[in-house]
Amino acid sequence: MRALESPHGIAARVLRACARPGAFSNRRLSDELERHHGLEGGARGLVTTLVYGVLRHQARLDAHVDACADRPAKLAALPREILRIGTYEMIELGRSPGNAIAHAIAAARALDERGAIAGLVHGVLGAVAVSWQARDAALEQGAPLDVLARRDSIPRWLAGRWIKQLGPERALARGRALRDELPIDVRVDRTRIALDAARGRLAAECPGATIDMVAGDSAALRVRGGGDLFHGAMHDEGLISVQGLAAQQPARWLAPRAGESVLDACAGLGVKTLQLAELMDRRGRIVAVDREAAKIALQERLVARGRLAVRDLELVRVVGDLTSPACAVELGAWAPFDAVLLDVPCTGLGNLARHPEIRWQRRFEDIGTAAANQGVLLARALELVRPGGRLVYAVCSAEPEEGPVRIAEVVARGGISLTREQTWTPEGDGTEGFYAALLLRA
Ligand SMILES: C[S@@+](CC[C@H](N)C(=O)[O-])C[C@H]1O[C@@H](n2cnc3c(N)ncnc32)[C@H](O)[C@@H]1O
Repeated sequence: MRALESPHGIAARVLRACARPGAFSNRRLSDELERHHGLEGGARGLVTTLVYGVLRHQARLDAHVDACADRPAKLAALPREILRIGTYEMIELGRSPGNAIAHAIAAARALDERGAIAGLVHGVLGAVAVSWQARDAALEQGAPLDVLARRDSIPRWLAGRWIKQLGPERALARGRALRDELPIDVRVDRTRIALDAARGRLAAECPGATIDMVAGDSAALRVRGGGDLFHGAMHDEGLISVQGLAAQQPARWLAPRAGESVLDACAGLGVKTLQLAELMDRRGRIVAVDREAAKIALQERLVARGRLAVRDLELVRVVGDLTSPACAVELGAWAPFDAVLLDVPCTGLGNLARHPEIRWQRRFEDIGTAAANQGVLLARALELVRPGGRLVYAVCSAEPEEGPVRIAEVVARGGISLTREQTWTPEGDGTEGFYAALLLRA
């Protein structure tokens, strides 16, 4: 095996690709793993651990690397990724320095057979090995902004916002909550399998996984160490859907009833479309709209695994931009709706625990851009609700401009009442950052 095809070399390449604007770590990762389909399960798991771990701790790892390199500003991208990976293995995975350095050197040799990069890697990681504990302890101290930026790898602009919004203690608690991976949450289709039975089957499918019930929630399970649940038999059969605990709430708040006419206004791949159908006992009409044709096309799989091709359910899938006149005409065939779910596109800043790369890609200005778009989508979606009907607004972000501020704006215009709203946070709820609001149209 060439060293750049080792888990460490592959992880370094994925990390480099993730640094490009708009790259999603999960897609880059699955592309690379696909290219290396011969890699055995343990090695694939290691690539995933290294990629997410380095993205999650990037600024902290750089603090160690930069302190130990002679000319840190001159480090090229791939050698830096190799150094981050080696440092991560020592300080987070508890690997011995000898082991971590040997893997890093092997990956470095594949970049440069003459050995100059390997020599650099050896020198820097050797210095990290003897100094990281004292430096890590120092990174825990100091002004909240520095602790968040350096120990918790939260970009300064975002750390500063949180301190201002939440106060230093809560902002630090959020940073701490984001240090570790979140469990994978699943929603169980209780119309087809009881929660206990689902837990038992999942345990058999994922030996070694820890599967917890969720207090007060009769349809969710939290899974740790279960590997790739998207490709398991239970997922293929539609008995479970991978969905964060907070993200499971909007469809429940909407409480669609059998026989109603419901719009899933930003349906994407349809995780919530299926949930709406489950809640409606697969009876009634669901119109699922998304502006991305590829996503609507992929819902074909959802129809099969979710058993959605049934007599009493009319599922209409529409490719369209909700804000366009053409889409208004098309939706006119079914509007107005009893209930509308609006799961808006967003900055994704609530998803830092599961998509750690988002923190390095977003800029302050992105919040305003997303918020303006969300306001337009909300106004448009409200027009599609029948008088007396309901709308749930959902967003995978705990930034106020993307949630409560948007809702306050439409409520102030009149004709709409807010009956329920909630913000979920990593530090308060142990979930993704998320916001939902239930609105009623007069
Ligand atoms: C948060 S995602 C939806 C996730 C989906 N509801 C689920 O649970 O799987 C937001 C979706 O809105 C879609 N979108 C963005 N702008 C849109 C627009 N103007 N009209 C329709 N869909 C739009 C995006 O393509 C994306 O799939």
